[in-house]
Amino acid sequence: MIVCLCHAGNEGDIVRAASEGASALTHLSERLNLGTSCGACRDCAVDCLEKLSQSNRAESLLKASTAQI
Ligand code: FES
Repeated sequence: MIVCLCHAGNEGDIVRAASEGASALTHLSERLNLGTSCGACRDCAVDCLEKLSQSNRAESLLKASTAQI
C-alpha cells in the first residue's frame, strides 16, 4: 500500500525501516522523506509504526509465555 504519494513511500518501506530501528515519524522522515512535503501521509505513517510495534510486542509476549511452559 502506498503511504506517501509525494515520495512514493509504501508500507514495505516502513516495515523495512522499522526493522532497521526506525520507531518514530522523524526516523521515517530522515530515511524515506515521509511527511516532509505536503504532510498528508504523517498520520498513516505513524499508524503503520504503531501497528508494527504492537505486533512485535505481541510476538515477544507470545515467545515469553511459551518459553515459560
Ligand atoms: S504524501 Fe507524504 S509528504 Fe506528501
